[in-house]
Amino acid sequence: MKETLKKLLEATLERLQSSSDLTAVDKFKFEILDRKDSEYAKISMQMRDLSKEERPEMGKYLNEIKQQLETGFSVRINELKHARLSILETVEHEDMTFPVASAPTGHIHPITQAYFEIVEIFGEMGFSFAEGPEVEWFWYAFESLNMPISHPASDDFETYYVKHPEHDEHGRMVLRPHTSPVQIRSMQNQKPPIRVVVPGKTYRPNYDVSHTPMFHQFEGLLVDKNVSIGTLVGTLDYFVKKFFGSDQKVRIRPYHFQFTEPSFEVDISCSICGGEGCRLCKEGWLELGGCGMVHPVVLENGGVDSSVYNGFAFGWGIERCVNIRSGIPDIRMIYEGELRLLEQF
Ligand code: DAH
Repeated sequence: MKETLKKLLEATLERLQSSSDLTAVDKFKFEILDRKDSEYAKISMQMRDLSKEERPEMGKYLNEIKQQLETGFSVRINELKHARLSILETVEHEDMTFPVASAPTGHIHPITQAYFEIVEIFGEMGFSFAEGPEVEWFWYAFESLNMPISHPASDDFETYYVKHPEHDEHGRMVLRPHTSPVQIRSMQNQKPPIRVVVPGKTYRPNYDVSHTPMFHQFEGLLVDKNVSIGTLVGTLDYFVKKFFGSDQKVRIRPYHFQFTEPSFEVDISCSICGGEGCRLCKEGWLELGGCGMVHPVVLENGGVDSSVYNGFAFGWGIERCVNIRSGIPDIRMIYEGELRLLEQF
């Protein structure tokens, strides 16, 4: 019996060395060791024929052989597994099934997000979207808006002039310092009633905490019959509540602009101190922009009969709206491209 066991062990180890197929080795192990009537099981049955005295020694030997067989199989199985992996490594450089880390994607800039949001909010009130050129005729930028060349207001607007040898005083072009010229263009393009919201890029040569040479404004214009200041305030209030939050209040203060009469500045309640008054606001109010009833001269310059129609207009900075809403203290931060800030939008 000992002899048979020894032979089984030797034959098995020898065959294992020459087999290189993992599945075949698994099957071989099943035949020799695992199945109920395996080669090993068959031999161990012979224990029954042994005398009581012979059994303990033979039992021990049986166990030793079993262990050696098991070790032999597991060593070979491991060898074959490793061999397969190293073949895979050299043959398949890329594992097509391996999950890939997704590439980081950007998103729309906060100012562009606000641009679309503003258009949408005014759209809810029936305002349609309009645009105008960024390089604008001096006439549209100032004179048509009741701002004569000599008027100091055009100095306030500190404007970039576009040089052209053929341009005279009146034919000059500028980088528009505000979106208001599109008021005139809209009146020229369509008949009242007119309701437009005009967001866009504007330019002034300033650079500090609250100015960048390029910034954005949005203009609103409504022209119809019997338009009241009440409708203007209601319109501004709707926008402020949608954009800044439903508990925000809006107020208008008398002011002066050339293109509106009467003119106002628009304030919203300060969300930082809740209207109590703090370092950032004027007694609980933050200034947002300008508005007023369209000056008759401006209506006429746009081709609208000012004896039949009137209207209101407003113009604010988009950066200012975003900064107030998000608590960004310096407008320049918006254009620094700092991801830690931009990723928050
Ligand atoms: N265009 C003005 C500016 O840039 C803002 C403004 C004030 C626009 C009053 C208006 C308005 O339409 O009615 O400072």
